[in-house]
Amino acid sequence: MSAGKRVLLIVSGGIAAYKALELIRLLRRAGCAVTCVLTENGGQFVTPLSLQALSESKVYTDLFSLTDESEMGHIQLSRAADLLVVAPATANILAKMAAGLADDLASTVLLATDKPVLVAPAMNVRMWLHPATQANMKTLEQRGVQVVQPGEGAMACNEFGPGRLAEPPEILAAIESLLNPAPGPLSGRHALVTSGPTHEPIDPVRYLANRSSGRQGHAIAAALAALGARVTLVSGPVAIGDPPGVEVHRVETAEQMLAACRAALPADVAVFAAAVADWRVDHAAAQKIKKQPGAAPPALTLVPNPDILAAIAAPGAQRPRLVVGFAAETADLMANAQAKLTRKNADWIVANDVSPETGIMGGAENAVHILSAAGVESWPLLPKQAVADRLAGRIAEALSRD
Ligand code: C5P
Repeated sequence: MSAGKRVLLIVSGGIAAYKALELIRLLRRAGCAVTCVLTENGGQFVTPLSLQALSESKVYTDLFSLTDESEMGHIQLSRAADLLVVAPATANILAKMAAGLADDLASTVLLATDKPVLVAPAMNVRMWLHPATQANMKTLEQRGVQVVQPGEGAMACNEFGPGRLAEPPEILAAIESLLNPAPGPLSGRHALVTSGPTHEPIDPVRYLANRSSGRQGHAIAAALAALGARVTLVSGPVAIGDPPGVEVHRVETAEQMLAACRAALPADVAVFAAAVADWRVDHAAAQKIKKQPGAAPPALTLVPNPDILAAIAAPGAQRPRLVVGFAAETADLMANAQAKLTRKNADWIVANDVSPETGIMGGAENAVHILSAAGVESWPLLPKQAVADRLAGRIAEALSRD
């Protein structure tokens, strides 16, 4: 099932490192190509030679090796595999991953990768149960790192409890399921999502913007990807991380966002969650506009931006089958949303009240109404991720209907 897949196995320093040898054997038997990275501490427990003999592949240990870097740089190493596996993962390497440290080859590769990561923790029971380790695990899981939970039992240090490395067949099973995910209801579909604000330049240092955080749009992209869709996320400038498993195109202005959306077509579904600036400054200044003593402030002339949703939803061969827009309003929510549905030729409009007292814009929760030709459906106040999951589920249902 996993034949031909490439696994980068990072072996960190723990007594359980010997089990990594068995894991390599199982992976090779399953047809996977295995490349190992051994940490300095890992090298106290297993030798590069044993890893190399079993993996039949070069073992990497040193961030600053001139030969290794000239053959395969650490960035390439971090991305050449289909999956990164840390087994055993010590408390130390998990802490480094959570903090984003990159002080050796293993931690650097883990920070530089754009591939899924699976960790199999192994450590003393007290170290595992320590709030610091538990907080690190929570952080890593929130970022999409997959975990094979440690088992319970007698430990090398004569204590008893959770912290034992999962057995190699269990780690193999987790690897197999990550390498061969069950097809989701949106697998084979392409989804285009816009998110975040746009920045419209006034001059090289100033811009017009809005308070959109990108949280809702990014959550929708993640939810569609979790259902198996190939997702292209076109995002304005945001301070949040990329959703896992999504191809992100970063843009600044509305015009760039429209161009990136057009370039991403065809798509089965498009969700326009970005808070696109309605206007941009006509002829942004090429140099910083200077404050002149006694002079009147500069007058900015605004011109309309393209309406990305309306442009992509316009009838034509390239129109996605399902087009979903958002209506963020501070007054007359439903009437404005209804007008947008028709004017922009959208199939659905997700309407939300963004009056400052709701705390929705930039906040973590959202209360939305879904408008379509079939009528209006109101959802309760939910975390933005839950809104995204529900919406993704509805999208999957709608696309499976025809
Ligand atoms: O007209 P309004 O900005 O309220 O419309 C909101 C919807 O239209 C959102 O889905 C937003 O992403 C989209 N939109 C767009 N391009 C614009 C303005 C809005 O795609 N220039």
